[in-house]
Amino acid sequence: MQNENQNEMQESVLPVLADKQIAINSDFYKMAFQFQEIMMIYESAIKQIETKLEILNKEYKVTGRRNPIETVKSRIKSPESIANKLIKRNLPVTFESMTANLHDIAGVRVICPYISDIYTVRDILLKQPDIKKIEEKDYIAFPKESGYRSLHVVVETPVYLSNTEHHIKVEIQLRTIAMDFWASLEHELRYKTTAKIPEGIRRELRHCAETIAMTDQEMEEIAIELQALS
Ligand code: GTP
Ligand code: MG
Repeated sequence: MQNENQNEMQESVLPVLADKQIAINSDFYKMAFQFQEIMMIYESAIKQIETKLEILNKEYKVTGRRNPIETVKSRIKSPESIANKLIKRNLPVTFESMTANLHDIAGVRVICPYISDIYTVRDILLKQPDIKKIEEKDYIAFPKESGYRSLHVVVETPVYLSNTEHHIKVEIQLRTIAMDFWASLEHELRYKTTAKIPEGIRRELRHCAETIAMTDQEMEEIAIELQALS
C-alpha cells in the first residue's frame, strides 16, 4: 500500500520537477530573472533617494521652516525605452551595456517652489557622504534650445543586498513648479504630434518658457521681499 502511494507521488511530482528544471535552465528564464534582479536594484536606488528627500521633507515640517520640496516623483525606465535608447546610440542591447551606458534607468524628479530651492536641495543631497556626484547639467543657467529648464544631477547611491554592494546611478531632475508645468505640456505636445514641429511653433514654445522663467524670477524676488518684512 505504502509503495503504491509512493509510486503515485513520484509519477505526479517528477514531471513537474523536470519541467521546472527545463524552465530554470532556459535562456528565457535566465534573462528574465537577471533583468528582474537588475531592475530590483535600480528600484532600491530610487527608494534610497526618495527616503532621503522624505526625511528632509519631514525635517522642514517639524522645524516649521519653509519647505524647499514641493513634490517628488520617480520612475524606472521601461524595457522598451531602454532598448530604443541603446539602439539609437548604436550601443549593444545587453544588460552590461545598459548598466554601463545609461544614466537614467532610475529617475527621480524633485519639484521645488522657487529657483533657489533647487540648488538648496541639490547641495543638501550632495553633502551626504553616501551620495557621489557623477554628472551635472544646469539647464537653468543654460536652457536647452527648446526652452527646457531644469537642473539634472546624476548621482551614485549604494544599494546593499545580502551578499553584494552595488553603486547605482540615479538621474535627479530638479525644477520649479513653473518649469515642470512647461516641461509636462511641451512633452505631451511633442509626443502627441507625429509630424516634425514647425520652427514657428518651436519659437512660440521657447517664448512661453522664457515668460515662465521671468515669472519664476519675479515670484522669487517677491518671496525675498516678503521674507525681509517678517
Ligand atoms: P536623453 O537621451 O534624452 O536622455 O538625452 P541626454 O542623456 O543628453 O539627457 P538630457 O540632459 O537631455 O535630459 C534628458 C531628459 O530631460 C529627458 O528624458 C526629459 O525628461 C528631459 N528633457 C530634456 N530636454 C527636454 C525638452 O526639450 N523638453 C522636455 N519636456 N523635457 C526635456
Ligand atoms: Mg538622459
